[in-house]
This record gives sequence, structure tokens and C-alpha cells, in this order.
Amino acid sequence: MPQLTLNNMLKKACDNSETLTRNELKFLLELENENDLQQLYCAAYSVKEKYIGKRVFLRGLIEFSNICTKDCYYCGIRKSNSKVDRFQLSMDEIISEARWTYEQNYGSLVLQSGERSDASFIDFVEEAVTKIKELSKGELGITLALGEQTKETYQRWRKAGAHRYLLRIESSTKNVYETIHPNDELHSFEQRANALKLIQECGFQTGTGVLIGFPNQTIDNLVDDVLFFKNIDIDMIGMGPYIAHHQTPMALAMDEMMGTFDEYKEHQLKLGLKMIAVCRLFLKDINIASTTALQALAPNGRELGLLAGGNVIMPNVTATEVRPSYTLYENKPGLDENCQSSRQALENSIHNIGEEICYGIWGDSAHFFERTK
Ligand code: 5AD
Repeated sequence: MPQLTLNNMLKKACDNSETLTRNELKFLLELENENDLQQLYCAAYSVKEKYIGKRVFLRGLIEFSNICTKDCYYCGIRKSNSKVDRFQLSMDEIISEARWTYEQNYGSLVLQSGERSDASFIDFVEEAVTKIKELSKGELGITLALGEQTKETYQRWRKAGAHRYLLRIESSTKNVYETIHPNDELHSFEQRANALKLIQECGFQTGTGVLIGFPNQTIDNLVDDVLFFKNIDIDMIGMGPYIAHHQTPMALAMDEMMGTFDEYKEHQLKLGLKMIAVCRLFLKDINIASTTALQALAPNGRELGLLAGGNVIMPNVTATEVRPSYTLYENKPGLDENCQSSRQALENSIHNIGEEICYGIWGDSAHFFERTK
């Protein structure tokens, strides 16, 4: 490869004349110098501005249950963590949070929970989706983030009115995926990858994402993740830096790897921002969430994510009382915040970085309409 300068590489990425090569993606993900990083974020921001504008789409996030059948090594609500108080919101509680989201004019919401696929869970979700559609006269857009299901289940939920689905692949490299999950049928890489296909086949706008910066993950793995997003023609990305949770097996490995807590936070934040920027440069017109995990690493993490090319924010609208039980990782922000006051704070901070919140719209992925034209 001829040695392009960073400038040329970014120009090429912004022009859309040619796509970035594997080596170039790697080069960008390996940038460390602060000036270089600012150039990267700025270039990604200009691509976002071109395809989406200086606009932010909101999804109110309802984390309605932490009951989970899975045992992922990194996750605080894994099945084996007996220290977690398990909860499931009632239908009425979900509906009241959805109504609040609708009244705030957020435009969309996400229903997220631990992974279950038993019949009563499937029925419950179908009913919740139907009721949310009813209460909002069809106006609230619904995204589901409820894990691997059968095609029939995806079809039922799609029919009930959900139109976007987020299923993180967590790592797109099979042997890496297998190091961060138990080795059994419930945690099969092939099944997860196939579930993404089923979601697309059922007509959902489809999102995926990965954990960024867990122990033993390499930059090459992250490059493969970015190429995977392109390969499967994804419409949306929700990904975030790995953050240790000390009641999990992975956290122990993390302790040995990292220096001080501040260095670790800075490193993870930077890697998360680089991934957003590179995905924006490479994939252009998709929706990219600036996730809560960024905010766990820096108070203005989500704003930094927007400035690096993200365009979606998912404010937590779950009842404050149950939030501590949905601790996927330590230091998860917003545990004691109130939806109303955080709405105002979010509005101000987005305004301060020169962006505008788009109220009252679904904020769909432009890429989905291109892909299905
Ligand atoms: N750090 C960061 N993200 C995590 N998730 C689970 N555990 C962690 C962690 N320790 C993410 C997973 C999952 C999403 C709901 O939360 O990627 O898909």
C-alpha cells in the first residue's frame, strides 16, 4: 500500500470516491496522538453532517427485566450472578414509562431486557408492543433489543408493530466470541449470527454492535468487526466500550491487564470514540448510537460520541427504583437520576455542542431505505 498521510486517508473516506482498505481502517483505529484523533473525529463528524445533519435522534430506553438465561462472561446480569436482585416490570409499569416517553415527544423507544425465549415472555412482549402502539396511536417507533429468538417470534413482534431490532454480535470473530461466552448451545456464535439474518429477513431495520476493548481483543478483531458491519449491510450500530463488573469472570482478567483506573477509563473511552468515528467514515448513512457506556467513562462521554460521528442517544426512562438492578457494568450512570431532570440536562448539553434534538420522529436509518429501495 502506498503510504498515505492521515489527511489523504480521511479525505478519501469523506469523498466517498473509494472505501477505506483494511490496512487503513487499522491505521485509523491505532491512532493515539491527540491531534490525529481530533482530525479523525472531525472527519467523521463531517460525514455525519452530510448524511444526517447536526441532528440527534432519541430513543427512550426501557430496561424492563434483568432476568436472563445467558451467562456471558462480561455481563453483570449473567445468569450465574446470584447477587443480582432479579426484577420484571409489570405491563402497567412498562405502559406508563412508554406513555411518559410519548408525552415527552421522544419519537421512539427501545424495549430491552435479559434474554429469554419462553412462551410467556414472547406473549408479554407482543402485548407490550401492541399496547404501546395503541397508546401512541401508532406514533411511537419501537426498537427491540431482546436477544436471539426464532423467526416466528421475530415475525410476531414485527407484526405487533416493532420496526427496529438491535442484536449485538458482541464479537464478529468466532473464536474470540467463544472466549467471552460459555461453550454451549445457548451461546453459539453461528446461532447469533443467524439470528441477525432472521431479523433482517423479517423486515426490521437491523442493528448490531460489539463490545470494545475487552481483555485479549486485538485491533485486528475490531477491524474485522467494522468489516462485518459492512458485509451484513447493517442499518444501525449500538456498541460501547467494555467496562468491568466485578461479579463476572472477565473482570478478574481485566484487573491484571490495566494500570490505574483513570488510565483504563481514558483508554476505553478513546477506543470507543475511535470505533464510532471509523464506523461513520466507513458506513456513512447508518444510525450510530452514542451509548451509556461512554458516559460511564466520562461525564460528557455521550456528547463526545456525537462529536465523533454518533447520531442517536438513548436516555434511560426506566423507573429509577429498579435501575440499580440493571447493572451490566460498574459505574453505570444515571442510577439515581430522574427522567424529567435528565431530559433537561440532556437537551442543554446537546444544544451546547451545536446539535439539535429531533423530537417527535422515529429517526430511522437512512441506510435501511437505501438498502430496501
Ligand atoms: N461492559 C460494557 N457493555 C456491556 N454489556 C454487557 N456487559 C457489559 C460490560 N461489562 C453490553 C453488551 C450487551 C448490552 C446490553 O450491554 O454488549 O449486548
